[in-house]
Parts: sequence; structure tokens; C-alpha cells
Amino acid sequence: MYSLSATLVIAANLGLSLAQTTVTVNTGTTYQIIDGFGFSEAFGFGEAVQSAPSSQQTQALNYMFSTTEGAGLTILRNRIAADPSDTIEPNSPSSPSGTPTYVWNDNDESQVFWSTQARALGVKYIYADAWSAPGYMKTNDDYEDGGYLCGVTGETCSSGDWRQAYANYLVEYIELYASAGVTIDFVGFLNEPEFAATYDAMLSDGTQAASFIPILYDTIQSAGLSTGIACCDAEGWNDQVTYTAQIIAADAEQYLARITSHWYTSQGTSPIDTTLRVWETEYADLDDSFSTTWYSSGAFSEGLTWANYIYQGLVECNLSAFLYWVGAQADSNAAGLVTLTGSGSSTVVTPSSILWAFAMFSRYIRPDAVRVETSGAPSNTNIAAFQNTDGTVVVVMINKGSSTESVSLGGISVSSVAAYYMDNSVSAPAIFSATLSGGSIAATLPAYSVVTFVLSHKSGDNAEVNTGPVQLVVHDLNVDAST
Ligand SMILES: *[C@@H]1O[C@H](CO)[C@@H](O)[C@H](O)[C@H]1NC(C)=O
Repeated sequence: MYSLSATLVIAANLGLSLAQTTVTVNTGTTYQIIDGFGFSEAFGFGEAVQSAPSSQQTQALNYMFSTTEGAGLTILRNRIAADPSDTIEPNSPSSPSGTPTYVWNDNDESQVFWSTQARALGVKYIYADAWSAPGYMKTNDDYEDGGYLCGVTGETCSSGDWRQAYANYLVEYIELYASAGVTIDFVGFLNEPEFAATYDAMLSDGTQAASFIPILYDTIQSAGLSTGIACCDAEGWNDQVTYTAQIIAADAEQYLARITSHWYTSQGTSPIDTTLRVWETEYADLDDSFSTTWYSSGAFSEGLTWANYIYQGLVECNLSAFLYWVGAQADSNAAGLVTLTGSGSSTVVTPSSILWAFAMFSRYIRPDAVRVETSGAPSNTNIAAFQNTDGTVVVVMINKGSSTESVSLGGISVSSVAAYYMDNSVSAPAIFSATLSGGSIAATLPAYSVVTFVLSHKSGDNAEVNTGPVQLVVHDLNVDAST
């Protein structure tokens, strides 16, 4: 109330037309737990960083993992290769019960390097995903071009039922990583199972996945591992809605740890009906050039566009994680967050504006944070709020419009506020001036910007911040361009 009337007076003095919106952040009403944000270095994309000179290597790793110099990403998605030149089991043991011969080069197309670095630099979850079973386990006898795992619902092969052999193979992969010092937290056995790609690809619907999931679960348990199963990395959200319903109907949801989906053929616009945490595990601009443009026309390759997608995932779809496709790679297009150009000591490492869109969330919203309720927002503004396990409250405000938005955060028992912004005037997230005075915070959101507020409570005020409503009063001044 105090800050509300104070700000009204200021507005009246300026003689501006005032469209006032009050935004309330209520930390007493909580939604999904946030697991984090991430990317992949599949298909050897990460080799350029592994072989880069040490200063450029450090720079690239910092862009991915540092919470001060980069995006502070905390999830790495690895590929379990089925391609005979990269898989751990290139040759068929002749029959499903034959003794497999595994091969392991301790590198796995640079994914061992990346996994080790990721862990050392604070990554919480490593998700290993198989795009396909090896070809000899499939109806089409090929690791690519679709085909089904022999033995799933409705699919039989003259060579027999390979479901247990596939589960053994996935567990062997997890154990090889363990022997390299890397824990695999989650394992997936499908990637875009509605799409028969000309690279590792295997078809499945949710019912067929459910006819394999309990076998994989039992095999993981018998091996004494705690790796959770993720399914199904559908190419689009709408397909994953269907697969999830089929898995639930087959009573197999109980064996899963995460529901996973891509956003290529359809983006998420509402939650998937499941009690499990849901991750968006792959989405990217696959076609355009690498871009450092934050905002120009709202194009797919611009940072502000991706800030809004992340918001859409977290707020509209109840996501616990949002992953881009590629992290850092050589001569990247927009599918990568960071590009390495040139070679040797003259290698140049460049972050995209999309990396900085992630940073505005992932630097500050840390693993195990919980999304909390907000209500009200000025026009053209998306607002989301989270509470970290240390009690700090993170409020992300995206101003999608061409006008500034005047904001007053009041009624909160905060001892300090730190704020950061990203817009066209800066090339990386920068300190945002937000002053704490008389218990309220005054700030003006720049046009086409993301501003992230990190609110710390007064010492001894923990209970109040954890349970009490936090009121933010936001005034949409709609400043006339001529004033
Ligand atoms: C959101 O996700 C959580 C799991 O993280 C789930 O328990 C909850 O039911 C979901 N809410 C909605 C509205 O889908």
C-alpha cells in the first residue's frame, strides 16, 4: 500500500497517463521444482572445445557453466550412439541371449571430456539419451531410417525379442561412464520416435515404449544403479502428450523419472498431464546463421525470442527444465549457443544472444528452485518468479514492447536487491540499476529487454519470505514516444 500510493504521486507529478498494474508474487503458492537448463554436445559437436587451446577452451566452458561469465547451465544431454562406428556394441552377438562384446574408447566423441568438465563446473544432471538401439536389435536391421525395437508391442523379428538385450546395453553404457568417473542421472532410450531420420533413429509410440520401460527399470535396479528413466523425447510436444497418455494407460508411468519432449513440430502451450517432472530437452533454430542480435525483428535466431520461449515453457507448460540443442561447436549456425571460429591460437569464441537469453534465467534460478505464483502484469510484459533453496526470490520480467515500463516493487521485506538486464544496448547481461528505498524498489524496464531481480530477505526474516505473499507493484505508464 505504501509503495502503491508513493508511486501514484510520482506519476501524477509527471502528468503521464497511468495504466496501473499490480503484480503480486506469492511465495506461499508454489508450482513445479526447477531442475535446470542445458544443452547437448552430441555427434562430436564438442570436439572443437576439447581440442582448443586452453584459454579458448576455458572461455567456451565458462560461457556454458559459469554463473558470472556465462549462462550457468546445469544439465548436459549426451547421445548414446547406435551408429556402428560409435556405439559400444557394434557387432551383433547373433542372438538376443548371446554374450555381447562391448568396445569403449574412453572418449565417446568428446562426451567424456564434456561430462567431466560439466560436473567439475557445477552441472547437476547428466542425461544420456539413445536415439536408437543398434541396428541388429531392430525390425529394419539398421540403426537409422526408423524401424522398431524387436519385441515391443506389435513388432516381432525372426532373430527374437531384443528388449532385454537393449536394456543390458544401456546399463553397460551407464557403467562405462561410472568407470570413467561420471554418474549418469537419467537415461533415455528414444529420440524423436515419430521420425525415421537418416541418422540414429528408432520408431515407437507410447504403448510400445511402455512394453520396454519395466524391463529397463528392472535391469537398472538389478545393477544397483539409481539412474532414472526419461521418455520419450518426441519431436513435438503434441506427440509427447499422446505418448505420455499411452504410457499412463499401460501403467508404466511409475517406472519413469522424467517426461521429455522436443518442441520442433509443436511447441508446448499447456502442461502435459502427468505427475512427473517434464523437461523440454531439445529445441533450436536449426536453419539461420549464428546471431548475436538481441532484438531486431523478433526473428527465430534472436535472444529476446528465446527468452519468451523459456518463459512459455516454465510458466505455461509447467516445465522443470529447458534445453537448447547444441552448446558450443566450431563454425556454428544458430543451432549452437556458442561458436568457435578460426583455428589454433587464433580461435575466437563468440556467445550468441540466445546464450544470454538462457543466462537471464539460469544464472539466477538454480536447481531445486520452485516456481511461485504471480498475478498481474503490465501489457507487453511476461513475469515469472521463483524461490531458490537459499531463500532468495528471483523475478524475471520480459518487456516485449517498444516502450519502457516503470516498475515499483513494494511491500516486501527485502534487505537487498540485485538486478541484471539484457537488451540491445549491451552485449552480455549487465548490472541493472534498481534502488531499494523505503521498502520498495523502483526500476524502469527498457524496451525489448529482460530484467532479472534477485531479492534477498532481511536476516531472521526467512519464515516471512518463505511463506508470506510478496507484493510487487508494477505501473504500466505507457509513456508516449513524444514525451
Ligand atoms: C506440474 O508438474 C508437477 C511435477 O513437477 C506435477 O506434480 C503437477 O501436477 C504439474 N502441474 C500441472 C498443472 O500440470
